[in-house]
Amino acid sequence: MDLYDAINRRRDTRAEFTGEPVLEETLARVLSAAHAAPSVGLSQPWDFVLVRDLETRRRFRDHVLQEREVFAGTLPPERAGTFSRIKVEGICEASLGVVVGYDPGRGGQHVLGRHAIADAGLYSVCCAIQNLWLSATAEGLGVGWVSLYREDFLRELVGLPAHVRPVAWLCLGTVADLPDIPDLERHGWRHRSPLETVVHEGRYRGAGPQATSS
Ligand SMILES: Cc1cc2nc3c(=O)[nH]c(=O)nc-3n(C[C@H](O)[C@H](O)[C@H](O)COP(=O)(O)O)c2cc1C
Repeated sequence: MDLYDAINRRRDTRAEFTGEPVLEETLARVLSAAHAAPSVGLSQPWDFVLVRDLETRRRFRDHVLQEREVFAGTLPPERAGTFSRIKVEGICEASLGVVVGYDPGRGGQHVLGRHAIADAGLYSVCCAIQNLWLSATAEGLGVGWVSLYREDFLRELVGLPAHVRPVAWLCLGTVADLPDIPDLERHGWRHRSPLETVVHEGRYRGAGPQATSS
């Protein structure tokens, strides 16, 4: 698969996991791709906790389902109806979970490029996640990013130290297929905006038409 194929085939995966184990050498390639990501000051501030144990995954899934209800409670009735039809995780159905952590202490006291923008460390972790996601796609695997959780709960669940921030729970695994259309579009939650609404020539020219909706 070439890079653009992987970019276009990549999908957030929830219902398509088969639960078959991922070959260890494949997992190693996917994690190596994540670890090859760019990072501010070459700090490589990420950690990956591999969660295979089903009981831990069940506990996390139950927590996510609670948070789903919290979010649902904030929605007006029509949006709540649409949201009720959307699956937001495949935690137990995936082959494994990958908790991605951000360690701001990595890279020492003087991280080159982070003195004015502390978030640059977090951006680096997101680069690693995207590398992982694209690599998994090229390997024929699915990835689903879950963010409906409280950070303290996840930190405690997988034993991250207090200074390591959980950035994502990634459901990773073998899939029956990857859908062509994102779930949120298929359910009418939200649609992708055209490229021209977000490209600005020279100076920012005002909010795109979809910027404030829902
Ligand atoms: C930071 C981040 C957090 C996300 N959190 C969730 C989540 O909690 N549950 C979920 O079902 N999808 C989650 N997603 C996936 C998005 O819904 C998905 O990327 C988007 O709808 C576009 O679909 P696609 O990834 O298939 O192109 C998340 C994606 C990102 C980048």
